[in-house]
Amino acid sequence: MNKNKNHIRKMFDSISDEYDFLNNVITIGQHLKWKSEIVEIAKSVNPKLILDLATGTSDIAINLSQIKNCKIIGVDISNDMLSKAQKKIDKKNLSEIISLKTGDAQNLKFNDNKFDIVTIGYGIRNFEQLEAGLKESHRVLKDDGLLIILETSVPSNKFLKFLYNIYTLTFIPVITRLFSNNPAAYNYLEKSAKEFPYGKNLKNILLKVGFSEVEFKPKMLGASTIYTSKK
Ligand SMILES: C[S@@+](CC[C@H](N)C(=O)[O-])C[C@H]1O[C@@H](n2cnc3c(N)ncnc32)[C@H](O)[C@@H]1O
Repeated sequence: MNKNKNHIRKMFDSISDEYDFLNNVITIGQHLKWKSEIVEIAKSVNPKLILDLATGTSDIAINLSQIKNCKIIGVDISNDMLSKAQKKIDKKNLSEIISLKTGDAQNLKFNDNKFDIVTIGYGIRNFEQLEAGLKESHRVLKDDGLLIILETSVPSNKFLKFLYNIYTLTFIPVITRLFSNNPAAYNYLEKSAKEFPYGKNLKNILLKVGFSEVEFKPKMLGASTIYTSKK
């Protein structure tokens, strides 16, 4: 599976127009609920500065902006995703709170120990170097800082997995062929979701790169999972 940075960037550039619409259709709007859960988790540590990696069209950053006296920096490798994000931020008058930067989450241009929280929504499974990428998040977090990841996973129950496979192998290809500029990108996203380590396997990777207190909660029968861990 080609996870070269330039390839991934071009792929997300090519689907930026339809990304929000198809994300709503594919997750039946549930991703917005999970993104709100990220805010509830974030609020509990009273953050002043949050880094939202792989921010895309900035849903998570916009959700986080409701936390009082907190600034958010969103980083993404795709300029086209970021320009959609900037339009949403401007429309909501949030540019004083959220700033966007082009950059690679695996090689961040920030000092060590800078952020109270790092959030990453559906970003890490695109990392060419997963462990190195997670180490970068660890590096830029303050001591005791919180990493919150929302990522696709696969239901563990056999029957639910069967339904999940039918859904991803029939419904998603039809919808993306109808509405996407680049249906092959969704083919990649579906395959990468199935191959990506999730649950206990991702927990072990987080522990290996130096995080502690790793917890994870599957959502929508295990189709996505929220992970929290501390530096
Ligand atoms: C599936 S979208 C998720 C966007 C948003 N976080 C959300 O939850 O809707 C994945 C995003 O990750 C970005 N991305 C992929 N690899 C990246 C990397 N190495 N560094 C920064 N952004 C990356 C893509 O450009 C894309 O915008």
